[in-house]
Amino acid sequence: MLDLRVSSEIDYASEIKRLKKENNAVILAHFYQESEIQDIADVVGDSLELSRKAKSTNADVIVFAGVHFMAETAKILNPDKLVLLPDLTAGCSLADSCPALIFKAFHELHPDHLAITYINCSAEVKALSDIICTSSNAENIIRRIPENQPILFSPDKNLGNYLIKKTGRKMLLWDGSCIVHETFSERKIIELKVQHPEAKIIAHPECEETILRHADFIGSTSKLLRYIAEDNAKNYIVVTEPGILHQMRKLAPWKNFIAAPPEANCSCNECPYMKLNTLEKLYLCMRDKTPQINLSKEIITKALRPIERMLQMSSPA
Ligand code: 13P
Ligand code: SF4
Repeated sequence: MLDLRVSSEIDYASEIKRLKKENNAVILAHFYQESEIQDIADVVGDSLELSRKAKSTNADVIVFAGVHFMAETAKILNPDKLVLLPDLTAGCSLADSCPALIFKAFHELHPDHLAITYINCSAEVKALSDIICTSSNAENIIRRIPENQPILFSPDKNLGNYLIKKTGRKMLLWDGSCIVHETFSERKIIELKVQHPEAKIIAHPECEETILRHADFIGSTSKLLRYIAEDNAKNYIVVTEPGILHQMRKLAPWKNFIAAPPEANCSCNECPYMKLNTLEKLYLCMRDKTPQINLSKEIITKALRPIERMLQMSSPA
């Protein structure tokens, strides 16, 4: 039986460091994780950087402080390593919006289409895709596909629409979206802009067009971070999951970052899946070596091909 009891006297940070050394483990964390998790991680990054790190690591154990599809990607790239996810129910609404069987049937209706699929999807959907992409490399990948090749882009219709606008490329879109990035209120963002006219609006491309049209800059989490580090404005309205503000404040402590609000009076701009991971669960999963990510050999072999294709086609972010 798994012992879930944790003492309030445990110093999680030092215990996690000890277990990391003892097990030759690496902790990979996404920018949307709680700040205490980001601070203890070996690498904090966006989906592309974390996939690259998962591929190049010499560690025996990969502890993924992120969501399920990210840990699965790490497992696909390292089938012989132990991949741990602090909470197995840390899913993703985009991945959930694209069930493998329906995706397969839809792709079969359009057999001439190249399936370019956002990394926010299950391993089964990856296995049915031709090329995986992230928000950091999607534009470059699409620009490299011959003009006469029809494309099926899944599962994020907002990212898909943004890419159609950016590249001028027609694409057939899957009807999926992120519950977090669709929660932002255009009305409240405009109100904030009125209060802070000098502030720049920066947004993730998973947001809807009604939000993106107000943005001074649109990019993946790592591109947003690079932008605020290199740009000379002092104030920013940040339209993505607010976990990223931790790195923004570390990178540019003299700047002011305002998290864009959701329409309702709730915390729905926080990703409920990312926030399932806590320092306590991180400690427990490293102590007990569970929950583990396990995938069949067949899925790993099939899903690896489009991920490898992505890594070959994308220049460093
Ligand atoms: P990034 O690759 O930009 O970090 O995005 C991941 C994600 O899940 C955004 O919601
Ligand atoms: Fe998925 Fe949205 Fe959470 Fe990103 S923010 S992990 S796309 S639900």
